[in-house]
Amino acid sequence: MIHSSVSYLFISLCIGLTFFICSKVMDMLGPSLWDVWNSSGQAMSSEMVACIAVESLSILEKMHSRGYVHGDVKPENFLLGQPSTPQEKKLFLVDLGLATKWRDSANGQHVEYDQRPDMFRGTVRYASVHAHLGRTASRRDDLESLAYTLIFLHRGRLPWQGYQGDNKSFLVCKKKMATSPEMLCCFCPTPLKQFLEIVVNMKFDEEPNYSKLISLFEGLIGPNPAIRPINTDGAQKIIYQVGQKRGRLNVEEEEDGQPKKKVRLGIPATQWISVYNARLPMKQRYHYNVADGRLAQHVDRGNADGLLISCVASCSNLWALIMDAGTGFTHQVYELSPFFLHKEWIMEQWERNFYISSIAGANNGSSLVVMSKGTQYTQQSYKVSDSFPFKWINKKWREGFHVTSMATAGSRWGVVMSRNAGFSDQVVELDFLYPSEGIHRRWDSGYRITSTAATWDQSALILSVPKRKPGDETQETLRTSQFPSTHVKEKWAKNLYLACVCYGRTVS
Ligand SMILES: *[C@@H]1O[C@H](CO)[C@@H](O)[C@H](O)[C@H]1NC(C)=O
Ligand SMILES: *[C@@H]1O[C@H](CO)[C@@H](O)[C@H](O)[C@H]1NC(C)=O
Ligand SMILES: *[C@@H]1O[C@H](CO)[C@@H](O)[C@H](O)[C@H]1NC(C)=O
Ligand SMILES: *[C@@H]1O[C@H](CO)[C@@H](O)[C@H](O)[C@H]1NC(C)=O
Repeated sequence: MIHSSVSYLFISLCIGLTFFICSKVMDMLGPSLWDVWNSSGQAMSSEMVACIAVESLSILEKMHSRGYVHGDVKPENFLLGQPSTPQEKKLFLVDLGLATKWRDSANGQHVEYDQRPDMFRGTVRYASVHAHLGRTASRRDDLESLAYTLIFLHRGRLPWQGYQGDNKSFLVCKKKMATSPEMLCCFCPTPLKQFLEIVVNMKFDEEPNYSKLISLFEGLIGPNPAIRPINTDGAQKIIYQVGQKRGRLNVEEEEDGQPKKKVRLGIPATQWISVYNARLPMKQRYHYNVADGRLAQHVDRGNADGLLISCVASCSNLWALIMDAGTGFTHQVYELSPFFLHKEWIMEQWERNFYISSIAGANNGSSLVVMSKGTQYTQQSYKVSDSFPFKWINKKWREGFHVTSMATAGSRWGVVMSRNAGFSDQVVELDFLYPSEGIHRRWDSGYRITSTAATWDQSALILSVPKRKPGDETQETLRTSQFPSTHVKEKWAKNLYLACVCYGRTVS
């Protein structure tokens, strides 16, 4: 009881006061878990790790219950009490330099979801995937970092150690996504794997079930609290509060009997992502697997029937082409070029008041650029880069531009931004898999997908709020391994028309 109130006081102090005072408190504490790990042969027993797990869960539960996320959970930030004092087996979580609020103190609501892909804060080795991707921090992120901390302490190493260079965070995040809980925990006790599986699949605003998570580890901990390697009073208190001390749980069983939808798990896949918008009935036509030499005949025939190109994409160096009667454009030109993208040609067309209306890039670096007259754009700018150019997009947003088309060629991104694009706001969803949760949250806030592109590693979706809302805001998406030709016809029957399409990384 006394120990619990000390750590409670400590957390309140650190949250209420400055980091300086916390540093003073740190001076009064003992070694960190990293020090303990290092001085005990760079490995820890299952029981030690289980005790750390349950006690750190109780510490995080306290911190979270005050509305804060720690933001930098790692072995270096857990300290033990001073050696040879009654606190020497007591765990403390320090360094609140990256703490943020997950709950608004004014209205008690969960903070709003957002993603700013260049906003990484934390420690690369232990950061959650969502933190790497710049998503607003929430309780799930501390738990994912705790899972990596525990696995590190037990195994002595994480598979993403040792990356160097400018894109270290990208490569580490990619590795985290590609490492299944089975692979990561193959030498760990089962509860660690169960813990990891639960926390990487949590939703943004999901309330962690701390007592359930604590109970996962109970089977690894000896019955006598007095001789445990770490003091677990805090955890005992949570179990006691819940009023049920239980044995091992079967995590597959959910309270409502429904299997929990897995967010992160799944087999990486390369697929077509297609987006459909509700529209008044109109003529639309699609072509796919189009070789360079056959492009012109499809376009010419479409033009003859009053259709213009609304969207282009590429898969296996073959083009996909969507042509509509409802683009609103008056004239259109296009160019196939061996470059991604062909600057001279684009500048020439800009001179003639054509604006880029869609682009596609092939794996071999060639590109298809479509430029149209009759758009509402007043100025345009584009960028090609080796990584997703969020910084540039963010800068252009501030200058009044919005993303109006996007494509990839191999691992390179090409993004086109236009002034007067008819959007009042725009956001990005970028992930190493199809970002379903983010898309649904954005949809709920009135955003609709307006561009998509994907590499072998990542998919990106641009979502926008139109200045003029369409009468029917219905939007649907599909992911298919083949071009969705039969699906498109089914959508047409419901007055849903292909709005954008791309081929690349998803998860099935
Ligand atoms: C880690 O442990 C080794 C061996 O016990 C020791 O030599 C080394 O100084 C320790 N490293 C740190 C940073 O404490
Ligand atoms: C990232 O790393 C890869 C090596 O895996 C390298 O080919 C690429 O050029 C790097 N990208 C950037 C933007 O540094
Ligand atoms: C937490 O999990 C336990 C065990 O599965 C369950 O009995 C309890 O209702 C859960 N609590 C919440 C708030 O969901
Ligand atoms: C890319 O591949 C297509 C189809 O195989 C081919 O026609 C084209 O010439 C290639 N382009 C480059 C730049 O290699």
